[in-house]
Amino acid sequence: GHHVSSQRIRFQRRNMPCRYDIDRFTPSFLSIFESLVPSQEEIAKQKQLLTSLSRIINKEWPNSKLYLYGSCANSFGFSNSDIDLCLSIDDKEMSKVDIILKLADILQAANLRNIQPLTRARVPIVKLMDPETGLSCDICVNNLLAVVNTKLLRDYAQIDRRLRQLAFIVKHWAKSRRVNETYQGTLSSYAYVIMCIHLLQLRRLLPCLQEMEATYFVTVDENNCAYFDQVDKLNNYGAHSRDTVSRLLWAFFHYWAYEHDYTKDVISIRTGRIISKERKDWTRRVGNDRHLICIEDPFEISHDLGRVVDKFTIKILREEFERAANILQFDLNPSVTLFEPYVP
Ligand code: GTP
Ligand code: MG
Repeated sequence: GHHVSSQRIRFQRRNMPCRYDIDRFTPSFLSIFESLVPSQEEIAKQKQLLTSLSRIINKEWPNSKLYLYGSCANSFGFSNSDIDLCLSIDDKEMSKVDIILKLADILQAANLRNIQPLTRARVPIVKLMDPETGLSCDICVNNLLAVVNTKLLRDYAQIDRRLRQLAFIVKHWAKSRRVNETYQGTLSSYAYVIMCIHLLQLRRLLPCLQEMEATYFVTVDENNCAYFDQVDKLNNYGAHSRDTVSRLLWAFFHYWAYEHDYTKDVISIRTGRIISKERKDWTRRVGNDRHLICIEDPFEISHDLGRVVDKFTIKILREEFERAANILQFDLNPSVTLFEPYVP
C-alpha cells in the first residue's frame, strides 16, 4: 500500500523536467548572492588581523606559521562571519592543549579581548576578539588538512563563477532552515560546498582536479593531497553550459530530494563520480558513523562528512530537500519562500 505508492511518486519526480520559466528568478537569486558577499573592506580587515596576529605569535614561536582557513579563505564566506585561523607549529615537547594554553597567554599579553581557550573541544581552539578590527576569530593548532581543503575549495570556485553563486544560496537556505548545525545532526557548510562541487562535476561545469595531472602536492598526516591547481588555465571549462544559478539550484534540490540513492550512493568529488557504499564499506553503522547520507571528504577518504546525520535528522534533511525542490518547481516566489525561516 503506502510503500508502493510513495515509490511511484518518487519515480515520477525523478524524471520531472525543470519548470520552463525558471530563469525569471535568476536576477533575484543573483541579488541575494551579491548581498551576502563580503566587501573588499572586510576582506582587507581580515588580512590585517592575520598579519598582526602572525607578528605577535612569531615573536614567541619564530618557526610557526598562521594560516587563514574555512569560509574566510575558501571564498564561500558570507560577510560578518567568524574567522578561522590555524597555527602550524612543530614543537615536539608540547601537547596541543599546552600550545593552546600558552597561545592564550601570549594573546592576553598582547591586549586581545575575550580570550577563551577551549581545550576539551573535539578540535581544541582559542577564541578571541581583536579590538582594532572588531573581528572575532578561532585559532586551532596543526589542523593542516583544513588548510589544504580550503585551498581546494577556493581553486574550484575560480573555475566557474556559478559554483560560488550556487553554494552561497544553498548555504543561505541551510542557515535559514536550520539544517547547517553539525552539533544538531545536520550538515556543515563544508559538506554543502562539496555537494555543490559534485553536482557541477556531474553536469560538466567543473572538472575533477584530483583526477588530473597533479601540480600541487602535500602530505598531511599520511593523507596524500595532490591535484591540478593551475586553475587559471581552466576558466573556460564550463563555458559550453548555459545553466543559470536558478537552474542549478533546481537541479541541486531535485537531485537530493528525488534522485540520490540514499541506500547505495556516496558522492565523491575526489573521483568526480558517484561511488558505492558497498565499495567503501559504508553500508552499516560503525561506531557513531551511521552513513545515512554519504559525502566523501576529498582528502581524508575514510571520512564521511554525513557521519553526524542520524535517523531523526536524515528525515528532517530529506524533507527540507523536498520542500526546496517543490518550491523551485511550483512556487510563485521561490527566491522568497525558499528562505522562510524554519519555525519549530
Ligand atoms: P561558515 O558556516 O560560513 O562558517 O562556513 P565554513 O566554511 O567556515 O565552514 P565550517 O565551519 O563547516 O568549516 C570550516 C573549515 O573547517 C572548512 O572550510 C574545512 O576546511 C574544515 N572542515 C570542516 N569540517 C570538516 C570535516 O568534517 N573534515 C575536514 N577535513 N575538514 C573540515
Ligand atoms: Mg567558519
